[in-house]
Amino acid sequence: MKKIIIINGPNLNLLGKREPGIYGSKSFEDFYKDLIVKYNCFELSLFQSNIEGELIDKIQEVGFLYDGIILNAAAYTHTSVGIGDVVKAIQTPVIEVHISNTYSREEFRHQSYISANAKGVILGFGLQSYELALQSFIS
Ligand code: DQA
Repeated sequence: MKKIIIINGPNLNLLGKREPGIYGSKSFEDFYKDLIVKYNCFELSLFQSNIEGELIDKIQEVGFLYDGIILNAAAYTHTSVGIGDVVKAIQTPVIEVHISNTYSREEFRHQSYISANAKGVILGFGLQSYELALQSFIS
């Protein structure tokens, strides 16, 4: 069974309460519960941190062991050379996801330090972005 991890960055623990007009009104925990049931063909896990270094540590830890990483680095997408570098350093393919269409938002969200080294990028489909990323690992 393929081992896939979802890694969520800062403020994504507030989904459901945070700017529901942009990010929806469902918590990630509720969405994740459904995902586990629906995609029981994968060994799924979830990690969330608001701390840049913890995200880098986790990506290093799983990046030579797991079959896939679904990464929403949230605000760090647009600022973190360190997360961009670790995505480049590891062997596990990374799918970059975003809930919102970052290209239809402020200019500073158009820059990503991750995209160039990701296997693919999925954005703008709400929480379904994660599901589409997961489906890309079905072979
Ligand atoms: C986000 C988009 C980022 O610009 C923002 O900082 C987030 C969430 C998204 O999933 O749409 O926190 O990554």
